[in-house]
Amino acid sequence: MEKLVEIRNLKKIFSIGSIFSRVKITAVDDVTFDLNFSQIFTLAGESGCGKTTIAKILLGFEEPTSGKVLYKGNDLTTMKHKERSKFMKDIQAVFQNPFSSFNPLRKVDNYFFETLRNFEIAKTQNEAIEIIKEKLLAVGISFEEFREKYPSEFSGGQLQRISIARSLLTNPSLLIADEPVSMVDASLRMSIVNLFKELRDKFGLSVLYITHDLTTAYYVSDKVAIMFRGNLIEFGPAEKVLLNPKHPYTKLLRESVPEADPKRKWTSRIKLSELEQEEYAKLGCKFAGRCPEVMDICRKNLPDYYEVDGVKVKCFLYR
Ligand SMILES: Nc1ncnc2c1ncn2[C@@H]1O[C@H](COP(=O)(O)OP(=O)(O)O)[C@@H](O)[C@H]1O
Ligand SMILES: [Mg+2]
Repeated sequence: MEKLVEIRNLKKIFSIGSIFSRVKITAVDDVTFDLNFSQIFTLAGESGCGKTTIAKILLGFEEPTSGKVLYKGNDLTTMKHKERSKFMKDIQAVFQNPFSSFNPLRKVDNYFFETLRNFEIAKTQNEAIEIIKEKLLAVGISFEEFREKYPSEFSGGQLQRISIARSLLTNPSLLIADEPVSMVDASLRMSIVNLFKELRDKFGLSVLYITHDLTTAYYVSDKVAIMFRGNLIEFGPAEKVLLNPKHPYTKLLRESVPEADPKRKWTSRIKLSELEQEEYAKLGCKFAGRCPEVMDICRKNLPDYYEVDGVKVKCFLYR
């Protein structure tokens, strides 16, 4: 079996605002892609394009409006809670801010022992320590520097490595990493995302790497999908998409790497920017209003995918 995740025509519509001024946005619009075993798949795009919503659907935190998510051939979207919980071990996540994943008053090693006990992975303390050592080693942290410490005793970069080690405790097949380095010091980012490659090679891990940063994406990804206002607008092998982009949006994104919006948290109240709202509401291509190569048809119709040089592009220029 090659395919780990098969996402088919996934759609998520959010309805926001008060009852008198309801706005509907299709945060994920007919998204289809596969994520293979031992593959690093990057979802890239500026803030507010639907990346986190896809991650939340995969993790079971949001229900899709329509479409399917097959995981190892099982449809996650129609699964009952109990059945789904079997996959909790298998799909792990790492988030933007490592400090919010740990209680500041609790020693970090506690979380590790707890996970190993709850999932019945280790039977004795010694067995647990061996597993923890192995996972820490994989992210470049020694057990000695890790044990008996509180979150504040680590730097952001170290704590993010530790979150990754923690996610490995259950031997997952899939790691979902949503902007994992956007709060980490720029000089350390590459060394952390490079871990994904090492973990792919060492444990056969697949990674859904979510980022707005094309530089790190280029160095670690096997495949890249560029997202814009709910649509995957271009996807294919990383070097093709990023070195020789086809879609005018990908070209623009490559020139000006936008910063992630730190205000957009997983749980924050949603307030759409005017531009965002306007673009989501567009009839045709959502990028038409900003596209340097826009044509008449782009404002009326949403293009299909066209295959160019092994890459799928949602743009009328390639009709
Ligand atoms: N729970 C929600 N309720 C209403 N709108 C939401 C919700 N979550 C996300 N959105 C909206 O969906 C769009 C995509 O959001 P998100 O998936 O967080 O994008 P990204 O991760 O690419 O920044 C945004 O316009 C956001 O405001
Ligand atoms: Mg996000």
